[in-house]
Amino acid sequence: MTEQLDSDGRLRHLLTLENLPREIICRLLDRAGQIRDTALGRTQRRNSLDGTTICTLFFEPSTRTRSSFQIAAQRLCADVLNFDASTSSTRKGETARDTLKNLEAMGVRGFVVRHSDDGAVAALAEAAGEGTALVNAGDGRSAHPTQGLLDMLTLRQAKGADFSRLKVLMVGDVAHSRVARTDLHALRTLGAGEIRVCGPRSLLPDDATLDGCVVGEDFDALLEGVDAVMMLRLQRERMEEGLVSSLDDYHRDYGLTAQRLARAAADAVVLHPGPINRGVEITDEVADGPQSLVLRQVSNGVAIRMAVLEALLG
Ligand code: CP
Repeated sequence: MTEQLDSDGRLRHLLTLENLPREIICRLLDRAGQIRDTALGRTQRRNSLDGTTICTLFFEPSTRTRSSFQIAAQRLCADVLNFDASTSSTRKGETARDTLKNLEAMGVRGFVVRHSDDGAVAALAEAAGEGTALVNAGDGRSAHPTQGLLDMLTLRQAKGADFSRLKVLMVGDVAHSRVARTDLHALRTLGAGEIRVCGPRSLLPDDATLDGCVVGEDFDALLEGVDAVMMLRLQRERMEEGLVSSLDDYHRDYGLTAQRLARAAADAVVLHPGPINRGVEITDEVADGPQSLVLRQVSNGVAIRMAVLEALLG
């Protein structure tokens, strides 16, 4: 696998949070916290990436990740190229590797890549030249490291930096979710006190993903006393037919309603990476309610992505 750290232990690419040292994660979270005002456009842009060209190379759809990387890069004064696979020579059969090498030949130094295949971004990082940095913006079911970082920043702002006292419940389609895998790596590295995972057996992986977690199918029981509920989107685009009997049944058993949320700690917070299937995994009342941090996650995404781009290319 491609090394994401150089021989001095510095980030060269950001491909996964798995085995990423706690010190690097904390440094990125600290930096994002410091530059949050710039990220939200409340203070002037920083010029740390002036003269650097960054390409968002997305082979799968995105709203939050792509837009927030674009805004993050612009707030660091980088030039941004948005590559649209649907109108590019990808349609004529050009490979992702050739696409990257051609854009690199035009002077692009940073690539933010989303791809449907597991490991595709690491393979592209292998092909990249010296001085070119890649960020994994989501590959298959494997990893979405900046989502994991923004989720940890959001939890830290709400609950403090000591995760050892936190009980966190992750709910839903873990099997198909790169966000779930990434958040689980980050929660373990940051020392979360208890990680609970809940979903129908058909949507829970049976490999090492859930090692060390309290796992079950009874949502109401697992909700008791938790400090944070991390809801997951049903990944219907990655799912075989029949894994969920019906959306109504799924909502009945695993949909987060206000009535259910009352079982969690009184000050529990609710996260969801988006896009939300409203009325399926979460009701409007909860998604838009006072315990929801969904839009704070989105705001934090800009700050985290600025911190990552600065660390890689600044
Ligand atoms: N959370 C997330 O990755 O959203 P997008 O697919 O819209 O980027």
